[in-house]
Amino acid sequence: MVIKKICCIGAGYVGGPTCSVIALKCPDITVTVVDKSKERIAQWNSEKLPIYEPGLDEVVRQCRGINLFFSTNIATAIKEADLIFISVNTPTKTFGNGKGRAADLKYVESAARIIADVATGHKIVVEKSTVPVRAAESIMNVLRANQRSGVSYQILSNPEFLSEGTAIDNLLNADRVLIGGEDTNEGNAAVEELCWVYEHWIPRINIITTNTWSSELSKLAANAFLAQRISSINSLSAVCEATGANVSEVAMAVGRDSRIGPKFLQASVGFGGSCFQKDILNLVYICECLNLPEVAAYWQQVIDINEYQKSRFSAKIIESLFNTVTDKQIAILGFAFKKDTGDTRESPAIHVAKTLLDEGAKLHIYDPKVVIFNISCYYFNVENCQILEDLTHPYITDEPENVKDSITIHSNAYSATSGTHAIVVCTEWDEFTALDFQKIYKNMIKPAYVFDGRMILNHEELAKIGFVVHTIGKRMSRTGINRSWGTPYRV
Ligand code: NAI
Repeated sequence: MVIKKICCIGAGYVGGPTCSVIALKCPDITVTVVDKSKERIAQWNSEKLPIYEPGLDEVVRQCRGINLFFSTNIATAIKEADLIFISVNTPTKTFGNGKGRAADLKYVESAARIIADVATGHKIVVEKSTVPVRAAESIMNVLRANQRSGVSYQILSNPEFLSEGTAIDNLLNADRVLIGGEDTNEGNAAVEELCWVYEHWIPRINIITTNTWSSELSKLAANAFLAQRISSINSLSAVCEATGANVSEVAMAVGRDSRIGPKFLQASVGFGGSCFQKDILNLVYICECLNLPEVAAYWQQVIDINEYQKSRFSAKIIESLFNTVTDKQIAILGFAFKKDTGDTRESPAIHVAKTLLDEGAKLHIYDPKVVIFNISCYYFNVENCQILEDLTHPYITDEPENVKDSITIHSNAYSATSGTHAIVVCTEWDEFTALDFQKIYKNMIKPAYVFDGRMILNHEELAKIGFVVHTIGKRMSRTGINRSWGTPYRV
């Protein structure tokens, strides 16, 4: 079979960019991305895409209407496709068995059921969503239990390793593409079909094929390893603050060992995003179910250190501001979970903002992209609602009106910081490093504080201007007397 038509169920952060790049690199294949959300599909068909991702607009502009289509007509796209990606969300379960840890596979299951209902002929069904090990078996059970005559399936696992903010580059120049399949003639043939799609632009040597379960587990393992590096350096940042060591210097020295490498050793307020926490919790849950409590406890610690880091940073802000932030004006710079994305899912900024709000602070929030790129904002013409939505969510507060009264959303960093007691940097946006801090200082209440949760600012310059500066993983000499930053270490 030669693949001529691809359907992708789920037009999110993964389905949209991945299929746009496939369309760009495979002009001989027609790619249709479908979603149950009319709003999302309308945005993919508009000038203002539903997600911000550097380079994405250009790719979509080149292919949309030619061999790339966005549609809500899920049944037709499935019927016509030779290969179907399932790229729906797999959030952590919020109720029932495995609540707070297991992956909720209800969207994957519903996608499988739609396929079973409408598919005709032979289909290759590809798990692109991140799923627990052996999820392919569950998908196959749904498909086989509802199989009609003349219909056949092969299920592949093809987890996505893109990183938000660099998705297009990651997709174009993938370190590796991983494809898992059944070790049978039919399974191997399906793997070869998918390899052929990627080989349009990825060298064959970078396409790894494994059995299905290895492929599923490798995705969870990769995210667990990445998050583990962040938690490792963040745990050491606490030691640095207590001893006078500098975490950037430690990371540089450690990372020069070629066995360790320099990437992903940047200390910060903590990791966020929709994947790391969810996937590690899922791994922990799987280990517990497999009666491997020691392994579960090992990976759980990566999450625990992340929580500790977020709490530690928030607590230090309060302690440094004379142990009270009630009615203090505090600017939050950055709300996305990292730079170059408008995604706020599990952003550490939410944790920091919530802690400060609980203590009675008035927040002035600015993020360069969260403001603009938001589905509800675009549709209902309500500005800045993602931040408000996040901070008034029932998980965060039971007093949403009070929270709204305590938050002002700003369209630039200068208005956000004007008249405030402190600035808290929560996202490492490049534009924050180019701000005129002399001007900002003049308009702030004194003493003016900066809390750099991303270690991106020039702390010495800020201190020269007059700011009291606190950052993760190093003691500032001007503020070295601040006893609230941990028990001083004595030799
Ligand atoms: P998302 O939430 O942005 O998008 C999922 C989309 O699927 C939504 O638009 C939703 O309306 C749609 N959907 C759900 N059920 C559907 C159904 N039955 N029929 C049609 N549409 C349906 O999720 P995102 O971030 O794209 O993640 C998708 C998967 O990829 C998840 O398993 C995630 O863990 C994984 N992943 C995410 C990465 C990321 O950076 N966001 C990176 C690598 C993997």
